[in-house]
Amino acid sequence: MRIRNLEKRIGDFQLKIEDLTIEEGKIHGFVGGNGSGKTTTAKLIMDIIQPDAGRIEYGGLKLTDITMTSQRPYLLHDTVYANLVYPLKIRGRKPSKEQIQELLALFGMQDKAKQYARSLSSGEQQKLSMLRAMIFEPKLLIIDETLSNLDPESVEQFERMILEIQKKRPVTWIMISHRLSHLYRLCDRMHFFSCGRVIASGTAEEILFANEEPEIRRFMAKELVQRGEYDL
Ligand SMILES: Nc1ncnc2c1ncn2[C@@H]1O[C@H](COP(=O)(O)OP(=O)(O)O)[C@@H](O)[C@H]1O
Ligand SMILES: [Mg+2]
Repeated sequence: MRIRNLEKRIGDFQLKIEDLTIEEGKIHGFVGGNGSGKTTTAKLIMDIIQPDAGRIEYGGLKLTDITMTSQRPYLLHDTVYANLVYPLKIRGRKPSKEQIQELLALFGMQDKAKQYARSLSSGEQQKLSMLRAMIFEPKLLIIDETLSNLDPESVEQFERMILEIQKKRPVTWIMISHRLSHLYRLCDRMHFFSCGRVIASGTAEEILFANEEPEIRRFMAKELVQRGEYDL
């Protein structure tokens, strides 16, 4: 997928992405401060909002092959199971018992199928929203800040799960985070957003350690100071 000269104005905010390539089967990270345009770009890719100018070349990817999880997942007033199979239901597909159990087991939630989804803890709700996104085997998954609220153990579970999926049947991921530590280990490519622009794209190493852009250096320094540790 390739984004060319994409422009979108929302109030005072102006998004302007000249050229951004999202290679298939790779894990991409969108990183950058709050309000830098990461979610807006994801919504444009999802066709939830339309650009003022420019275009997205999907390269054969259909909108029904793309899904996005949000930081505040919207769960149906129903059981975990009902939420999980919803994407299959709307596509007229039948869930298999094995597939459901396998998915829930990825996050150790195999005993929770009958539980009322909204009674799950917030971390579990986020896990459910990720499993729900994966169930219909999309080709592009956009994970918007979903990892930010998970505990370290769950983040590790999630990372293992993604790497497992990538080994078996590579899909394209866009992981959005304002935290570098979540993306560093996972991403093949990182795209750094600042004030509505992508100011650098490259491997995590290139962006974090070899890029002289003052904005990126400032971002790195702040993250390290805030965490009070160096856990990259
Ligand atoms: N629906 C909206 N109405 C007004 N402002 C918006 C709307 N959506 C996004 N914005 C503004 O656009 C900017 C970029 O937002 P966003 O893409 O969500 O940033 P990020 O995801 O990088 O934190 C922010 O300043 C945000 O307040
Ligand atoms: Mg956002």
